[in-house]
Amino acid sequence: MLNKFNLRGSKKENDASHLFDSTQIPSHIAIIMDGNGRWAKKRGLPRIAGHKEGMDVVKKMVRESDRLGVQVLTLYAFSTENWKRPKTEVDFLMKLPEQFLTSYLEELIENNVRVEVMGDAQQLPRGTVKAIETAISRTSENDGMILNFALNYGSRHELTDAVKQIISDVQADQLTVNDIDESIISSYLLTKQYPDPDLLIRTSGEIRLSNFLLWQLAYTELWFTDVLWPDFTEEHLGEAIAHFARRHRRFGSVNN
Ligand code: FPP
Repeated sequence: MLNKFNLRGSKKENDASHLFDSTQIPSHIAIIMDGNGRWAKKRGLPRIAGHKEGMDVVKKMVRESDRLGVQVLTLYAFSTENWKRPKTEVDFLMKLPEQFLTSYLEELIENNVRVEVMGDAQQLPRGTVKAIETAISRTSENDGMILNFALNYGSRHELTDAVKQIISDVQADQLTVNDIDESIISSYLLTKQYPDPDLLIRTSGEIRLSNFLLWQLAYTELWFTDVLWPDFTEEHLGEAIAHFARRHRRFGSVNN
């Protein structure tokens, strides 16, 4: 028998939540939002039009994930490799968090969503950093869903920093080599306060991880779709969760 959902807000027409029950919602969903450029190209628009449309989809997915009871939603908004794009596109991508957080912050506060950001903030423009700091501080008391943006994030960079910090703590006698185990390593990562993702979604048909959460995704269920990010709907999210709900996660054992 299906458990009844305790959902915030009303059911939508394209709701796919009949495909799973409330006990099967992933606690942590991570998304690689890919395909904005191709979406724009197909319409004869500049690539930035795809990113703008993608930002509206972010809003929809935040609302829907929150409604379903997801605890952490991690979105890959800008990778350490994305600086290689043309300057106009990088500048536009850098403006998006500011635009998103300015236009949407009141709703996030109202919905008890906590905003967090992981990545190297040093290279980000001042306006972006300021918008992030405001959003983090104004939502810091919220204890509902965590909306975690990976911004100027790269997993190898994160792991490299963790190794350096561990060595430095060993040298400072704050840690011994024998103390180092998987949970210690996890505690040196930018995701230390979250459970590992249960479900990873990547849109646009690319089947790769692109330097995203390489340690944290060790046992994560992966769901790839050909749908381009600007076309991604609540129903697609529901399909991904339904796929997750059907999986039998064994974490390496045979009968878990
Ligand atoms: C990949 O598509 C997408 C990105 C590099 C940026 C993701 C950003 C958004 C979805 C906008 C929302 C962001 C915030 C912070 C609210 P692509 O450009 O690589 O697409 P392509 O592979 O089709 O060229």
